[in-house]
Amino acid sequence: VAWQDWIRTVEVEPSLYAADFSRLGEQVDELLNAGTRVFHYDIGDGHFVEPITIGPIVLESIASAIHDRGGVLDCHLMVDNPARHIPQVAKAGGDSVTFHAEVTDDPAGLIAVAREHDLGVGVAFNPGTAVDDAARAVDGADLALCMSIWPGYSGQAFMPESLERLARLRELLPGLPIQVDGGIGPDTIKGAHEAGANLFVAGSAIFGHEDLPRAYRRLVQLLA
Ligand code: DX5
Ligand code: ZN
Repeated sequence: VAWQDWIRTVEVEPSLYAADFSRLGEQVDELLNAGTRVFHYDIGDGHFVEPITIGPIVLESIASAIHDRGGVLDCHLMVDNPARHIPQVAKAGGDSVTFHAEVTDDPAGLIAVAREHDLGVGVAFNPGTAVDDAARAVDGADLALCMSIWPGYSGQAFMPESLERLARLRELLPGLPIQVDGGIGPDTIKGAHEAGANLFVAGSAIFGHEDLPRAYRRLVQLLA
């Protein structure tokens, strides 16, 4: 389990939350063919975020097809109690878990739980959380996830103040992978890159198009 092996300098991560679930396997295949390596998978519990999204059951049904082709599943835990879900995510074939700084006083303990399950691990934080506080929680994790929307739904607009937050995070955590999630598309991806992010989650900017490979590759090209 090694984020440093998964990241080709930068990664665009299609957010499967925005997929057409009646054609999930097909859409995953199309994106693997287009060169996707890391898929973002949003698990929401209906408490930390309003909706119940997708969970380990659906994860299990796509994990082996992704792993067989060298892909990995980066699971964003939008949940109040990550410790309860991490073992299930590991069992279902998740490769990494990112929990929210807002739900715990013991980030190191949750990082240890993830490691016990041989998972990569990240720490996410919401637009309302101080970047300096979040950066402290990231100690020992593989990545920091700066939310550029309030989590819950795909298709929201990128919050412009996220650029300053990304830049501050980059300053505090030089060398660590920094992920940005929310409103990333052709108009926002370059700015987020310049501010210091190198992992770009994209939901509607990919799945909102008929031609998924083309939408994915366009985002990759904008980072070149
Ligand atoms: C929402 C999720 C995101 C979402 C992003 O809270 O964490 O990953 O799918 O969707 P877009 O890219 O459309 O903002
Ligand atoms: Zn997400």
